[in-house]
Amino acid sequence: MNIETAIQKASLELKRNNIENSLLDSEILMSKVLKKDRKFILLNSKKELNDVQYQKFKKFILFRSESKPVAYITGKKFFWKYEFKVNNKVLIPRPDTELIVEQVLEIYKHKKKINFLEIGVGSGCIILSILKEKKNFLGKGLDLSKDCIKLCKINANKLKVNHRIKLYKSNIDNFNLGKYDLVISNPPYIKKLDLNYLNKDIIKFEPMLALDGGLDGLSEIRKFIEKSSELVKKSGKLFLEIAHDQKNEVKKILIENGFYINKNVKDLAGNDRCIISTKK
Ligand SMILES: C[S@@+](CC[C@H](N)C(=O)[O-])C[C@H]1O[C@@H](n2cnc3c(N)ncnc32)[C@H](O)[C@@H]1O
Repeated sequence: MNIETAIQKASLELKRNNIENSLLDSEILMSKVLKKDRKFILLNSKKELNDVQYQKFKKFILFRSESKPVAYITGKKFFWKYEFKVNNKVLIPRPDTELIVEQVLEIYKHKKKINFLEIGVGSGCIILSILKEKKNFLGKGLDLSKDCIKLCKINANKLKVNHRIKLYKSNIDNFNLGKYDLVISNPPYIKKLDLNYLNKDIIKFEPMLALDGGLDGLSEIRKFIEKSSELVKKSGKLFLEIAHDQKNEVKKILIENGFYINKNVKDLAGNDRCIISTKK
């Protein structure tokens, strides 16, 4: 079978299983099988697949039709300007989260060197992107999951920023190391009951530890803010990603913990997505 026919068949199969973007996903998975980019696939659509390639492609399409996210099948995801290794123990980096990177680069554009901390590094997409852009920044990162720490280290090596990052497998509750100019976090913030309504791709495959924000969606955020109020220096900043409907409650928690609000930033869809605050 040639590349084009295999992709068309796969795309139909995915559509039958209610997978959106069935054609794009099929092309990406074909790229993974052939270890070539999508351009090659499109330019060589009449090339015949050998049996090993076709069987591998069919296996990937089966995974995808069972809702396994493409990033977990290919083992990688693009975020900011870089490719990150991912597996099903870490949250797949989301485009909305690039807002934190964008805001850090804007607000610290004239700063040569700062010491910053990320709570809940996951794949490392945020902290490593910042370190990549700011050559003298020093980062510390922690995560409750040892698998996240392991993967973040791999990505730090891949991006060659390993000499400017220190990583800790720790619950934020027990982390008391240092004082920082800046703390950043994309905390778990989904309400427990809302978890049931998430897309199948997410609920079946992504780590609960990265999503579950407790009954009101704020239990981790609350913890992260309380702890940050001890970890951020006076006049230092805290950048938090939030859900679209959490702005007012999160502002209240920040103020109760000695922060004042600088601004909230909206994502491309116009939803409140990031709150920037300063420690009094
Ligand atoms: C929403 S994910 C964010 C991951 C990554 N920073 C990103 O934006 O893709 C939240 C991360 O926080 C970690 N986490 C959850 N509760 C934690 C806690 N109490 N202490 C430390 N890390 C925690 C999870 O393991 C997960 O990796």
